[in-house]
Amino acid sequence: MLVIGGSASTSLAEKVAQNLGAPNVILNTKKFPDGEKYVRIPYPVKGEDVAVIQSTGRRPDEYLMEYFLIADTLRDLGARKVFAVIPYFAYARQDKCFNPGEALSFETIAKMIEKVGTSEVYTIDIHLHRVTHVSKLFTIPAYNLTAVPLLAEYIQKNFDLVKPMIVGPDEEAGQWAKTASKVLGISYDVLEKRRLGPDKVEIKPRTLAVANRDVIIIDDIISTGGTIIEAVSAVKKEGARRVIVACTHPILVNNALEKIYETGADHVIGTDTLPTPISYVSVAPVIADAIKEKQAT
Ligand code: R5P
Repeated sequence: MLVIGGSASTSLAEKVAQNLGAPNVILNTKKFPDGEKYVRIPYPVKGEDVAVIQSTGRRPDEYLMEYFLIADTLRDLGARKVFAVIPYFAYARQDKCFNPGEALSFETIAKMIEKVGTSEVYTIDIHLHRVTHVSKLFTIPAYNLTAVPLLAEYIQKNFDLVKPMIVGPDEEAGQWAKTASKVLGISYDVLEKRRLGPDKVEIKPRTLAVANRDVIIIDDIISTGGTIIEAVSAVKKEGARRVIVACTHPILVNNALEKIYETGADHVIGTDTLPTPISYVSVAPVIADAIKEKQAT
């Protein structure tokens, strides 16, 4: 087994390689003056199983294209299997044609990942809504792992929680709130959200049992922060004592982090599916354990 980190995930790849006890192959990559990508794999890969770690946040098109070049090259060089480890899977939110003529981006990306010779797909807390299971998108094995138990354990270890409760900002976040509530042995609730635009959401006002309690708000993604900002304000209005926000994928565009703190969050915690200043929790063990387990069966 070899590990290769795409340019979106070099540090995570190093940790996954350590966890797997496998060599971490350093990719040679550069950009031509016109923006095209150059990729070279300076390592013998013939007959090897190779895990390519490449998240696709913030510059999704560039990182996806780089993945396609890496995977296709690995196949050309005779790699036995290529595992696409895509911790943050971009385009999953466009899982339906909301208006006539729209691209069904989620499906297109899945087809392209298969086309370049990928043998298996590993992702983490992928945004599944209308597509209910990641394996429905692919004809190759595809696994959706979760970082939520690690986030919950991190919170348990690092905060002295007072009468804690978990809140999911919308119905979809109910699954993550439920998982975290099991790990922490505390109750959870979910809010009702309506999206008004790409960076604007509305949360239905309601009475929540959060007064004088520490509230953990958990979601899969923080992108513009619109969702979390509304959720933080809702629980603050209802008298929450401290607000800890946790997410798997801290995309954090448009000063999202600053805005979330300004709204009254006390702590914001994310994982290293995307490297950020709040990536306190590493998903490397989740990835390495899943690869070991699947390859052993
Ligand atoms: C959507 O339903 C997701 O679970 C997240 O709540 C959403 O993608 C977060 O995006 P933003 O931070 O832009 O509100």
